[in-house]
Amino acid sequence: MTAQVARFERTGPPREVVRVETVEIGPPGPGQVVVAMEAAPINPADLNYISGTYGVRPQLPAVPGLEGCGRVVEAGPGVKLAVGDRVRLPEGEGTWRSHAVVEAGGCLPLPGELAAEQAAMIYVNPLTAWRMLHDFADLKPGDWVVQNAANSGVGRCVVQLAKARGLRTLNLVRRAELIPELLAMGADRVEIDGLELPRKWQESWGDRPPKLGLNAVGGDSALRVAGLLGRAGTLVTYGAMSKQALKVPNGLLIFNDLRLRGFWLTAWAKTSGMETVAGALREVAPLAASGALQVPVAATYGLEAISEALAHAEQEARGGKILLRLGGAG
Ligand SMILES: NC(=O)c1ccc[n+]([C@@H]2O[C@H](COP(=O)([O-])OP(=O)(O)OC[C@H]3O[C@@H](n4cnc5c(N)ncnc54)[C@H](OP(=O)(O)O)[C@@H]3O)[C@@H](O)[C@H]2O)c1
Repeated sequence: MTAQVARFERTGPPREVVRVETVEIGPPGPGQVVVAMEAAPINPADLNYISGTYGVRPQLPAVPGLEGCGRVVEAGPGVKLAVGDRVRLPEGEGTWRSHAVVEAGGCLPLPGELAAEQAAMIYVNPLTAWRMLHDFADLKPGDWVVQNAANSGVGRCVVQLAKARGLRTLNLVRRAELIPELLAMGADRVEIDGLELPRKWQESWGDRPPKLGLNAVGGDSALRVAGLLGRAGTLVTYGAMSKQALKVPNGLLIFNDLRLRGFWLTAWAKTSGMETVAGALREVAPLAASGALQVPVAATYGLEAISEALAHAEQEARGGKILLRLGGAG
């Protein structure tokens, strides 16, 4: 059978280097399945991966796509997955293609009942938010968490997952028009990320200053988040959208005992193993199914329109994720 596959032969500007090709794929061998892909988002990490600036270097030629969902349509001998099961492809297998022949043992089961667009995005952003809210501070209901890039996919998941746990969120965004939307989604406070922030907010939490700050931007924005933390609070850096280095004033470390940590989902998944990852997914899936955890989609493109989709994903001030409809599952 043939498959439509997005590929790049050299790293560089995504729109210039990614092409869609038709390739022959063989029948599944022992332990393998054919997965018909449904949908995949274009995440910032995908753009970095194609550009050669991600934490993992692609083995060229490479198929992009760090997450997405598909259905098993054919199973080789000795496979436990059944035809119709929804899965995430094994780590390292790019998702931007209509069909893939992969090792069944590396496939992560995904909730079959979710709409394909939410199932395609249930891995990277929700699990990143979930882990960061669990692994870095002992948070009790009523505690405050502060974050920048609050309207990002991860930021929205943080707001929604925090609310489900009874935590409160202080949220920084770049655009005023996002404030009502995030408040309606469950954010406790939303402000424009700017110079006057710390003074304006300190009265919010009384004697319970935030223990956890989440930074996806870097530069001055990261320092504003760090400046809002209580003594011995933890700043977790997981993204660097501004591409600005984090230069921490000595006083934040000496007088406030600021703790600096980093998080990378890929490393967490690798060290935790598939059972732990599947367990985390089982915890977030019901929230996604109930509508309490949603990532908005700004636009959907077919694989044949990959250049337009990449151009849209590179734009700032988008209204949500750019999703690829992969066409494998019809
Ligand atoms: N470490 C991990 O494991 C992990 C996992 C997931 C994501 N991430 C990282 O987390 C970040 C957010 O990812 P996502 O998928 O949630 O992103 P997303 O949904 O595509 O949203 C991007 C966000 O970045 C903001 N932004 C863009 N350029 C910016 C700039 N120059 N300065 C400040 N903010 C800027 C956007 O604000 P506007 O809407 O105003 O443009 C938006 O809030 C990315 O850096 C991504 O690589 C890391």
